[in-house]
Amino acid sequence: MNNLDNIIDFIKKSPKTELHIHIEGSLEPELMFKLSKRNKIEIPFKSVEEIRSAYNFTNLDSFLKIYYEGSNVLINEEDFFDLTWEYILRCKQDNIVHTEIFFDPQSHIPRGVNFDKIINGIDKALKKAEKDFNITSKIIMCFLRHLDEESCFDVLKKACNYKDKIVGVGLDSSEKGNPPTKFKRLFELAMKEGFLTVAHAGEEGPPDYIWDSLNILKVKRIDHGVQCLNDEKLVDKLIKEQIPLTVCPLSNIKLCVFDKLENHNLKKMLDKGLRVMINSDDPAYFGGYLNKNLIETSKALDLDLQDIKKLIKNSFKSSFLDEEKKKKWLKKIN
Ligand code: HPA
Ligand code: ZN
Repeated sequence: MNNLDNIIDFIKKSPKTELHIHIEGSLEPELMFKLSKRNKIEIPFKSVEEIRSAYNFTNLDSFLKIYYEGSNVLINEEDFFDLTWEYILRCKQDNIVHTEIFFDPQSHIPRGVNFDKIINGIDKALKKAEKDFNITSKIIMCFLRHLDEESCFDVLKKACNYKDKIVGVGLDSSEKGNPPTKFKRLFELAMKEGFLTVAHAGEEGPPDYIWDSLNILKVKRIDHGVQCLNDEKLVDKLIKEQIPLTVCPLSNIKLCVFDKLENHNLKKMLDKGLRVMINSDDPAYFGGYLNKNLIETSKALDLDLQDIKKLIKNSFKSSFLDEEKKKKWLKKIN
């Protein structure tokens, strides 16, 4: 076997975790089409092929428009179950043994979908995943940052009734112009209620948004964070404190954060000693699940086996698994 085959083989066989996946972003065109018929929801596409060919994005906002339109077909508990179960089957295929998934209740509640249907559908599929496949998981509720504080406080209140199912809260949607400072009081309350916290920052937005996510929102992980290399002091802090950065290479290419995968800064981040790992973000929209992200990035950036091991270990270390489980998996990878 040559070196690349070796690496691909290792990627496929290694147990892995995923820390940055929006469950609504795993809605494949086939399921979108099926649900649009089942729920009699019109979508602006006549076929699965037409849906796929609409996935040409120029930036985050151009993607979000289509992503929220796609989410409109999700109505009943069964829909959220089916969505999550399809993702779990991909986890099994990719040998993901633990996943921490985001969901966006504020994109469903205004359409008349009850919070309990969303969370119960997702949770039932995740429980079945543990029972059938030994795949463990955590649920993180994201606030939509383009909406106002009040709407976010409303949904946080609902999440407080589901602390047995939701471990943390995050911040996603349109980044530029919606700085972390907008949500200072919200994150204070979320922490007081016992939720772990993460936030998307430095995907398209400036390094200042990463600083403020850490200093003002006091988050445990930064989602994306690729803009950090534009601020040396920030890089020093991220390295010193080993703050996890949940990087999503295929997403960054689809949303034109980098022009091509060969120019992605992941390898630079890794070589500096930043705690980065690879994730799929919205795999149904961005062209691939976790293994494809790992394999394509390895090819484009000429990653070696040590790099891959580091990425996979970083992901386990940065997960919200307990220390004993982390140790068990890390030992398996070594
Ligand atoms: N960035 C911000 N919000 C999102 C994303 C993303 O990559 N995916 C789904 N919501
Ligand atoms: Zn994301």
